[in-house]
Amino acid sequence: MMSVEDKLESAETRPPHVLIFPAPGQGHVNTILSLAELLALSDFQVTFLITPHIHNRLRRFAGDIEARHPNLTFETFGHGVLQNPALFGHNLKELAEQTKSQGKLKLRELCSEHSGKPKVGCIIVDALLGQVDSELGDELGIPIIHFRTASACSFWAYFNVPKLLQCNELPIKGEEDMDREITRIPGMENLVRCRDLPALCRGERKGTLSLDTLVYLALHSQQAKAVLMNTFEDLEGPVLSQLRRHFPSLYTLGPLHVLLNSKKASKTAAAAASGREEEKDRTCMRWLDAQPPKSVIYVSFGSVAVYTRAQLMEIWHGLMNSKKPFLWVIRHDLVAEPDGDQGLPAELQEGANERACIVEWAPQQEVLEHAAVGGFMTHSGWNSTLESMVAGVPMICWPLFGDQPTNSRYVSEVWKIGLDMKDTCDRKIVEKMVNDLMVERRQEFEKSAEALAALARKSAGEGGPSYSNFHRFIEYLKSIC
Ligand code: UDX
Repeated sequence: MMSVEDKLESAETRPPHVLIFPAPGQGHVNTILSLAELLALSDFQVTFLITPHIHNRLRRFAGDIEARHPNLTFETFGHGVLQNPALFGHNLKELAEQTKSQGKLKLRELCSEHSGKPKVGCIIVDALLGQVDSELGDELGIPIIHFRTASACSFWAYFNVPKLLQCNELPIKGEEDMDREITRIPGMENLVRCRDLPALCRGERKGTLSLDTLVYLALHSQQAKAVLMNTFEDLEGPVLSQLRRHFPSLYTLGPLHVLLNSKKASKTAAAAASGREEEKDRTCMRWLDAQPPKSVIYVSFGSVAVYTRAQLMEIWHGLMNSKKPFLWVIRHDLVAEPDGDQGLPAELQEGANERACIVEWAPQQEVLEHAAVGGFMTHSGWNSTLESMVAGVPMICWPLFGDQPTNSRYVSEVWKIGLDMKDTCDRKIVEKMVNDLMVERRQEFEKSAEALAALARKSAGEGGPSYSNFHRFIEYLKSIC
């Protein structure tokens, strides 16, 4: 039998066990998984809680992560809607509700002393699932940390919604009110217009979370022990200093994919990513190899955005008329018509011609780093924005929901690394924007994109602010676990 001393010693030498719970969207999972890998590389025991659908996707697209990190384990939970990929992107509200209620049961099970797992020292939960911890926090007595996967500027905008309502800057009074400037968000004065606020400020859409919920979640992060963000000081400094007045324990760790690569590079064994990327569509890389430098516009709208056929056709014609070669990711679930008729228009199904390459899913980070890529037409999801920034590729933004309208405003007006096409997508505008980005104003955008890329890499590279913040965070985590 183990003596008391032995028990104490083994508890002291055992690596701290952290439970990580992301929201089940690709954009959220990708970011938070980078953190999970970073913690595993730092010798934490990590349990990553996901739905079976996301687990399958990870296996297909990210290789065998568990084999690369023996101290990172996936735990799956969920039935019903959580196993039905057809509903992803179409009913986020139902998805969030079910994730919270079913995930809570699983969390309780994993934290129980009968779970057969090491005692959980801390839970890192996606801030979008913050209600889970309100209900469980006291009961479990385990410290809770929030991970906010989107930009600091959008987080700060949500946080300020109650104030905007109080001083009558919200609600937005119809279409004609969209260009009115918002003046009462500290650090963002006269920078954002109504149309640049998070999309829910325009009114609610069927199947999405409500603005009230997102504002509640932004305020609720004040209850967390610490808040983690995938951004960096040189990028969002003014907004971050405003946020720190309300969130004193805020760690900026971004761009996380750069931080992860820096850490992997210093642990060469872990960098041997067996099977990684192998099932992504690599035909596009060969196609890119055959294109002249900086000639291609890469087009992708993330993992959940859904468009109508008419919108896609405007983009198709605009791209064709621009006469530039383009690589377009068209997911099988990218198109949805109100009558439920899904499927691609014939032109797009036939797809490739001498100037176009169409794939269902691409190795996006590699694509953006490819010498042939000179521009990115994006929905301004936060991961895509950061990945493009790191690669020094200027953007054309066509934001759709959530944080995207705010991100795209910052891309064009603050960082000056692209054009914001929001709300006005037709073939003429697409053609003009592609030409502006790739020809007319090319040098100007390239210069600012290269400068920002250097800052991003420096920030998460060895010795940079995000790199140091990660080490501070590790020490903090050990102290609370
Ligand atoms: C969502 C929201 O849109 C985003 O605004 C929020 O910040 C996070 O959740 P998503 O719409 O999927 O995410 O967009 P984004 O954040 O850009 O993430 C997409 C991820 O999928 C990126 O990491 C991108 O590299 C990856 N991807 C996308 C691929 O690897 N291949 C593809 O073909 C398309």
